[in-house]
Formats: sequence, C-alpha cells, structure tokens
Amino acid sequence: MYSEKVIDHFSNPRNVGEIENPSGVGTVGNAKCGDIMRMYLDIDNNEVIRSCKFKTFGCGAAIATSSMATELVIGKTVQEAMSVTNQAVMDALDGLPPVKVHCSLLAEEAIHAALWDYAQKNHVVIEGLEEPKKDIGHDVG
Ligand code: FES
Repeated sequence: MYSEKVIDHFSNPRNVGEIENPSGVGTVGNAKCGDIMRMYLDIDNNEVIRSCKFKTFGCGAAIATSSMATELVIGKTVQEAMSVTNQAVMDALDGLPPVKVHCSLLAEEAIHAALWDYAQKNHVVIEGLEEPKKDIGHDVG
C-alpha cells in the first residue's frame, strides 16, 4: 500500500534536524491526529534555498513527505518553492494511500509557514503565499 519511495524516505529520511539561525522557520500541526512538523530554511542573498531541514513528530507518511519536501525545495528560489505543493510531494513519492493525503498537506503548510517567516523578516513578497492559518509557535522541542 505504500510506494517504495515512501518506505525509503520513511526508513531513511533526508535532511532531518535543525538549522541554527534559520532564514525562516515554520511549525504546523494537524489538530485531528496531533502530528507536528517544523521546517527550517536557509536562504541566500539571491533568495535561493541553500538548505532545508525538518523535525516531524508524526506518522510515517508525514515523515516521508517532510523528507521529500526538503529535497524538492533545496536549490529553488523562494518563489519557485511555491510549486512544492502537497500534490507535487505526493507525485514525487509515487502517491500516498487516500487516508494519508492529509499528512502531505502538513509538508506544504510547513514550507509555507517557513517561507512566510522569511518573507516577514526580510520584507519580501512571495506571490501566492498566504499567512499561515495557525502557527503553533515554539512550544515543541
Ligand atoms: Fe497525522 Fe499522518 S496521521 S500527519
């Protein structure tokens, strides 16, 4: 029921961890399942994402989608990173079971929250980016 790519990214997640003094950081959660995802971005002066790391307290699909999402945004400009939607992450993972689609939404929301944080701090406008609905803040270790 899970694709090989999902199992690979779950068993061997890429870019796990934190970035010290990140250009942007975003934390999101799913109220229903209680899973939480935090994304850190390191962005250079040309608005290119040099590095992206994540911490996910959540299910296997959430971990696999965070891992894939980090790989997809690295090397993109902040504007290009808007193309990394939950659908794009799912496609890159060769799909997710229908009951796990909401997990991939967390990845998109976490990227957007981190981009929003960057945009606010640097007075940058990223087209199509909306203020995150709820940033659950800094109450996660
Ligand atoms: Fe909550 Fe997957 S079950 S993110």
